[in-house]
Amino acid sequence: MGRKSGMLPILILVMCCDSIMGGLSRSKQTWTYRIRSTRMATNNESVAGGETHLEREGRGDYTMSGYLYFNVDVPKDVEAEVNIYRSNDGGATYKLEPYSVPRSGVYQTMNTFYKDMIMPSAANCSNFPQFEDKLELVAAQKFTYNKCLLSTDGFPTYLPDGIYKFELKSFGLIELFFEALVEVTQKTF
Ligand SMILES: *[C@@H]1O[C@H](CO)[C@@H](O)[C@H](O)[C@H]1NC(C)=O
Ligand SMILES: *[C@@H]1O[C@H](CO)[C@@H](O)[C@H](O)[C@H]1NC(C)=O
Repeated sequence: MGRKSGMLPILILVMCCDSIMGGLSRSKQTWTYRIRSTRMATNNESVAGGETHLEREGRGDYTMSGYLYFNVDVPKDVEAEVNIYRSNDGGATYKLEPYSVPRSGVYQTMNTFYKDMIMPSAANCSNFPQFEDKLELVAAQKFTYNKCLLSTDGFPTYLPDGIYKFELKSFGLIELFFEALVEVTQKTF
């Protein structure tokens, strides 16, 4: 893919459909992946927070489940950023990859990055927002997700081996942190 933008959908920890497990073997990607861990944190549980965990689906495959709540409507001045790092030494050291999404207003992030990369595959495993045009408000509520997988559909055909660390942070009244470690290996034919 000749694209250099920050929107490459690398290892967006999210979500897909029941067909993904079976679909993996038919995809064009030369690589496959395994989620190794997820965690999240909040700086103030009375404002927002949640929980994330992996569920084993057999043969070393895991899906993600958990919940995310907001006790306030998400204010427009909250900002968010997405950073993606790769380690080629088993997780000892990480380098920032060029696919990150720079810090910007959270609704801008929702209307671009989330909408393009995450929303379609989140549809079948969560009640995360689904919208057609623009999302103007995330009202106070609780989201849950259940056995979500990462859809690799829009991803680069080639990704080097390594452990990829995906970090999502928000800043402002709501300060959340989400991290997932994903191991990428080349398919063996
Ligand atoms: C979600 O499920 C519907 C109905 O089963 C299906 O048509 C759709 O393709 C699925 N979407 C994804 C992203 O898997
Ligand atoms: C958490 O947020 C609540 C509501 O805004 C506030 O009253 C409280 O002081 C905050 N706690 C901390 C530790 O910042």
